Amino acid sequence: MNKKFSRAIRAADIAPGGMRAVEIDGREIVVCNCAGTYHAIQRRCGHMNAPLDMGTLDGKIVTCAMHCAQFDVTSGESLSGPVPADFGGEIPPAGIGRFLRNVGMQMEQVRTESISRFETKVEAGWVLVAV
Ligand code: FES
Repeated sequence: MNKKFSRAIRAADIAPGGMRAVEIDGREIVVCNCAGTYHAIQRRCGHMNAPLDMGTLDGKIVTCAMHCAQFDVTSGESLSGPVPADFGGEIPPAGIGRFLRNVGMQMEQVRTESISRFETKVEAGWVLVAV
């Protein structure tokens, strides 16, 4: 069966190390430029659905901006789950501390799933993605 590739974005519109969110057939995708090689992943984090394009891309690893879970953009594999908030050694006020402990207990129950990745190719200056 032939895959259907759709135009996602002009290759020149994503700098190396950059990410851009696009929508193809109603699916939210992030196209990543890893040193001139383009990868496409689902936009929503495998932890709690934050948009991954708001995070950072370092090599082939995207880090979610919300709780710092990491994914390999070449495979979609979850590499690490969320990390607890870092208060730089400060002790939060009691009410906030209780709230954060409660949130932390709930977050421990949330699994971080691997994310979908999609095949890409570049033709005539466009990054094409098979969704
Ligand atoms: S939503 Fe991405 S790490 Fe929590």
